Amino acid sequence: MRIKNLHYLRSFRLTLIILSIFGLSLPVLSQQPVPYNSFKPGGEWLDNNGVHIDCHGGNIIYVDSLKTFFWYGEHRGEPRGASCYSSTDLYNWKKEGVVVEKGDIRIFERPKVVYDESARRYVMWFHYDGELDGRNYGIAEVGVAVSNKPTGPFVVQNHYRPNGHESRDIGMYIDPGTKKAYIGYAADHVNRTIRMVELSADYLSTTTNDVDIEAHCEGPGILKKNGTFYLLTSQCSGWTPNPGTYYTASAIMGPYTSQGSPFIGDVGNNSFNSQPCYIFKIPGYKDAYLYMGDRWNGGGHPESQYVFLPITITAEGKMEIHWHNEWDLSLFTPEARRPNR
Ligand code: DGJ
Repeated sequence: MRIKNLHYLRSFRLTLIILSIFGLSLPVLSQQPVPYNSFKPGGEWLDNNGVHIDCHGGNIIYVDSLKTFFWYGEHRGEPRGASCYSSTDLYNWKKEGVVVEKGDIRIFERPKVVYDESARRYVMWFHYDGELDGRNYGIAEVGVAVSNKPTGPFVVQNHYRPNGHESRDIGMYIDPGTKKAYIGYAADHVNRTIRMVELSADYLSTTTNDVDIEAHCEGPGILKKNGTFYLLTSQCSGWTPNPGTYYTASAIMGPYTSQGSPFIGDVGNNSFNSQPCYIFKIPGYKDAYLYMGDRWNGGGHPESQYVFLPITITAEGKMEIHWHNEWDLSLFTPEARRPNR
């Protein structure tokens, strides 16, 4: 027995020596990613390199021709800008890199990407900001960047105030039928209003179809079900979470009616300690709406977490978001014809 133990001790020592020769150490090995098969809202979420995903305030698109999901968001680590991750199952994400660096832009937040299938072009809209007249977040513009590949590089084309209105947090809605895209943006009077603006058919500019909406202003996310538009927003409290509210309308441009909070059993009254950034309709499943929220923990940090939860629209037409410690896509009903992925 003693001889056997001695043998194990020797081979363990030998393993350690080999590991140190090749510059490896045990803690590094322990960070090797294990494939995920569920979402764990608010938890650590590692990418293919075993590093917490750094992709905040963004959106997800599905590119059918590539059978791939792309997740874009703020890269809060260095270099600052927008990052892109790819996935085929929404649980496991490969870091594609920083697809646009913010460079001289003081504040670069909430990137949203739309894919122009006919031009095979990826268009990113983002919150472009910085100090103006001594006021932080005073520039209040939208920025637009373009790439021919989902993984960038995106090149910034322009930045401006849409139709002269201040613009800060942005959300995006892409109508699956008409392929028209809209930006909901926290607007004038330091976000006391929210506006909705339609993008041009090539998604490269804003149109003058731009309306004021009576709603709380930040983190807008939009979905449509049975002809009703649901607009989910947060209030304006910096990096501190607050109670979310949803609004309904029969047209994307409104008028919208306040329906209260969709967060059911939200004891902290703070949207399950998160702020909305997008609602992604998951292809291949019936009415599968994914709430994408950020858990900022008081600031925009690389390690800020994500609160991804299923959104339910009840038979009465109410939006509900329930907490799950862990969940997966089997909660949704597959559609008859699922995309082949
Ligand atoms: C709340 C916004 O939703 C964030 O995107 C960010 O702009 C912070 N405010 C800054 O305080």
